[in-house]
Amino acid sequence: MGFTEEQIRTFYADKYLPLSRNQAAFLHLTARSMGARSIVEFGTSFGISTIWLAAVVRENGGGKVIGTELVPEKARRARAHVEEAGLSEYVEIREGNALDTLRDVEGPVDLFLNDGFPMLALEMLKLMAPKMREGGVAVANNVVTFKADYVEYMTYLEEPANGFRSMVVPFEDGLAYSIRVRGREAA
Ligand SMILES: C[S@@+](CC[C@H](N)C(=O)[O-])C[C@H]1O[C@@H](n2cnc3c(N)ncnc32)[C@H](O)[C@@H]1O
Repeated sequence: MGFTEEQIRTFYADKYLPLSRNQAAFLHLTARSMGARSIVEFGTSFGISTIWLAAVVRENGGGKVIGTELVPEKARRARAHVEEAGLSEYVEIREGNALDTLRDVEGPVDLFLNDGFPMLALEMLKLMAPKMREGGVAVANNVVTFKADYVEYMTYLEEPANGFRSMVVPFEDGLAYSIRVRGREAA
């Protein structure tokens, strides 16, 4: 049985659950090396990962991080943290269920951080995949810690026809790192 939106909202309401410093620094390097200017984040929380990603968008010459957060108070505080960091012009935080708020994101997306509720990770990946540019990167955190919740996600990535090449980077929680491929590579 799945969780209701209200249960998720209550559980996550006051928890930061941020990427670790290493994970965030790794994403920062990745985004810098690929010149990412269009980044989408499922699960903004209080904005820690958003700040890392917005800082790299600024370094890359400008662009946008579109974040999304279900809990209104967290979205409000994330915006305040981003503003305090002087990065507001590079960030848009959409409040609500990511399945709705990220539906009209326009590609090409360079980097997708899939860091919300694990049970939605695969649905979110399927939503974002067509918007990702070739060579774009999708990242999901905690795939080892919450292995059972990510079985379908990992199985999906392993199927070449779904258009990704992946590995799990062995950070403490396990970071699924996937590159969008198309054409013959994804056959
Ligand atoms: C692991 S935390 C994100 C941490 C953040 N990326 C960071 O590193 O600072 C997950 C967040 O996803 C949010 N979330 C869960 N389900 C969601 C949904 N369906 N739509 C939008 N946000 C959601 C939760 O409220 C929670 O704040």
